Amino acid sequence: MATLVLLLLFYLFHLQLDVLALPASSDYNFSYMKSVYNAIDLPAKELYDYIVIGGGTAGCSLAATLSEKYSVLVLERGNVPAAYPQVLSANGTLSNLIQEDNGKTPAQRFRSEDGVANARGRILGGSSMINIGIYSRAEDEFYRESGIPWDKDLVLKAYKWVEETIVFQYNLSAWQSIAKQALLEAGVVPDNGFNLNHIVGTKATGSTFDDKGRRHGAVELLNRGELKNLQVAVEATVERIIISNKFPSKDSSLTAIGVKYSDSKGRTHHAFVRNKGEVILSAGTIGSPQLLLLSGVGPVPDLSSLQIPVVHHNPYVGKFMADNPRNNINIVVPFALDPSLAQVVGITSEFNYIETLSYTLPFSFPIPFGLFPNAISPLNASLATIAVKIQGPLSSGSLRLASSSEVRVSPIVRFNYFDNPIDLARCVKGVRKVGDVLKTKALEPFKTRDLQGRESFMFLGPSLPKNQSDESAMDKFCRASVTTFWHYHGGCLVGKVVNGDLRVMGINGLRVVDGSIFNRSPGTNPQATIMMLGRYVGLKMLQERS
Ligand SMILES: Cc1cc2nc3c(=O)[nH]c(=O)nc-3n(C[C@H](O)[C@H](O)[C@H](O)COP(=O)(O)OP(=O)(O)OC[C@H]3O[C@@H](n4cnc5c(N)ncnc54)[C@H](O)[C@@H]3O)c2cc1C
Ligand SMILES: *[C@@H]1O[C@H](CO)[C@@H](O)[C@H](O)[C@H]1NC(C)=O
Ligand SMILES: *[C@@H]1O[C@H](CO)[C@@H](O)[C@H](O)[C@H]1NC(C)=O
Ligand SMILES: *[C@@H]1O[C@H](CO)[C@@H](O)[C@H](O)[C@H]1NC(C)=O
Ligand SMILES: *[C@@H]1O[C@H](CO)[C@@H](O)[C@H](O)[C@H]1NC(C)=O
Ligand SMILES: *[C@@H]1O[C@H](CO)[C@@H](O)[C@H](O)[C@H]1NC(C)=O
Repeated sequence: MATLVLLLLFYLFHLQLDVLALPASSDYNFSYMKSVYNAIDLPAKELYDYIVIGGGTAGCSLAATLSEKYSVLVLERGNVPAAYPQVLSANGTLSNLIQEDNGKTPAQRFRSEDGVANARGRILGGSSMINIGIYSRAEDEFYRESGIPWDKDLVLKAYKWVEETIVFQYNLSAWQSIAKQALLEAGVVPDNGFNLNHIVGTKATGSTFDDKGRRHGAVELLNRGELKNLQVAVEATVERIIISNKFPSKDSSLTAIGVKYSDSKGRTHHAFVRNKGEVILSAGTIGSPQLLLLSGVGPVPDLSSLQIPVVHHNPYVGKFMADNPRNNINIVVPFALDPSLAQVVGITSEFNYIETLSYTLPFSFPIPFGLFPNAISPLNASLATIAVKIQGPLSSGSLRLASSSEVRVSPIVRFNYFDNPIDLARCVKGVRKVGDVLKTKALEPFKTRDLQGRESFMFLGPSLPKNQSDESAMDKFCRASVTTFWHYHGGCLVGKVVNGDLRVMGINGLRVVDGSIFNRSPGTNPQATIMMLGRYVGLKMLQERS
């Protein structure tokens, strides 16, 4: 009987129990370059089994998987990582984000209508090549609420496939160890040690950076594909999905048969899929709804007002756009602190996640983009940032096109941070928890002595409200200090735009596989689940055809 109960418990929680021992480092593996071409060198017209739009976080794992049996074309508007060496190391992360956007740089900037500066990847490997590297699997609630009939064994296999290729466990930096101590002291317990799962307590988590600071983003998942079946075109900007009414089926009169894209010389190309082939949109949360709208799939009023011919009416394309708010404080540290990207995460039972960073600002270095909304600083100091975000979030907004013809023009997006009062209440609790963290012994040495000899924290940017019981002051702090955690999602939700197999409803041969299908941000951070999703859907598609 006891064995039975144990077995049952194991079955129920096996996704939670199973954790790999991960390596601390690995050299870069650029084998995928054998399959990469610049779009200017590709013919004007071609035929493949599958076309993946966007060589990003989901697109790379999906394309690698489909290439095991079929010919695959990946169309990526950005260039290869080697063209922007700073993306390959941890120390380039912040300069990447503040670099001026010249239309080719790897971080494309955008500002939502909420007034919050944001960024998305424009590079092979997608946003996984410009992010902070935290790797954390999704929570059970995410699967239950996702609308997808998951095969849990396949989910686990897909995570492991990602993890054995590009995920690392390395020793905590000095600041990350102190932050871990402070979180535990502030009651974010238990200590979950090293753990990839999203569970209450404080954990050290996986990273796509290794202990030498080398970034191994989704791009290295391409190496796992059958490279002879894989053609990756960079500087290939997809402008439209070609949808035909010449192949009606019982499900729909419309079929996606190919794409129109342009190269860096402005030349137009067309690529088509063979019979039984598919076009898969993996252009990300901003790019995928944008391309559906540009292709005439979306709400009739939105399309008509821009004179875009309606191919298929769907009122939900571009709706339910959500972004996790980030509220942080930055402590100016009175001694030199080694830079570190987040390795430690505190997860509270009140739905808050707390992550930290440390870095040094050289003299006159412009303040990292988005980290401190209103400042240019003349400081040369070490900083420790403590950031809080909330589960979900429940608030959402929408996306609409700014241009009916030019895909390079970012669409207009609004996330409506804290519109839902539950989000605001969660933020307040999270900020109070940051207050508790600041009261710990572990952070005592981070205080600065003022002229009267009093010790207190010196903040760059906002400081916490003095009276943390004052609800209205706390609400105000949350709203006034909001920035992005870059975990925006939505726009092509399951059950609204795609079905449980991620097929676009009403159109044959077209799926969406990326963060735009999520109704909440999975796990502590989303990239693990997005890479898993690409592998998972790829395996499902191979199963379906065999
Ligand atoms: C600064 C930053 C820090 C982050 N930190 C973390 C973190 O630490 N941990 C974590 O888990 N997550 C983090 N995230 C979030 C995570 O990186 C993203 O959620 C995830 O990478 C998104 O994956 P995706 O496949 O949906 O889109 P993307 O990876 O953005 O892929 C979309 C791809 O499509 C391409 N594309 C778009 N339009 C077109 C077009 N018309 N034609 C051709 N190609 C096109 C883009 O260039 C891009 O390569 C961070 C994100 C950012 C920006
Ligand atoms: C950043 O890291 C790379 C490789 O790890 C190294 O070559 C480079 O010198 C580093 N740059 C700085 C400014 O430390
Ligand atoms: C990590 O810590 C262990 C134990 O202290 C040590 O043996 C090992 O050398 C460290 N690794 C690195 C890369 O610093
Ligand atoms: C790099 O990837 C290729 C293709 O999967 C593989 O054959 C090779 O062994 C890998 N190289 C290293 C050093 O891991
Ligand atoms: C900034 O700090 C670094 C190390 O702490 C030091 O080497 C450098 O000289 C300082 N620069 C300026 C302009 O003060
Ligand atoms: C803090 O705010 C609470 C709630 O508004 C109030 O009751 C309390 O008096 C305030 N404390 C101080 C010291 O101002």
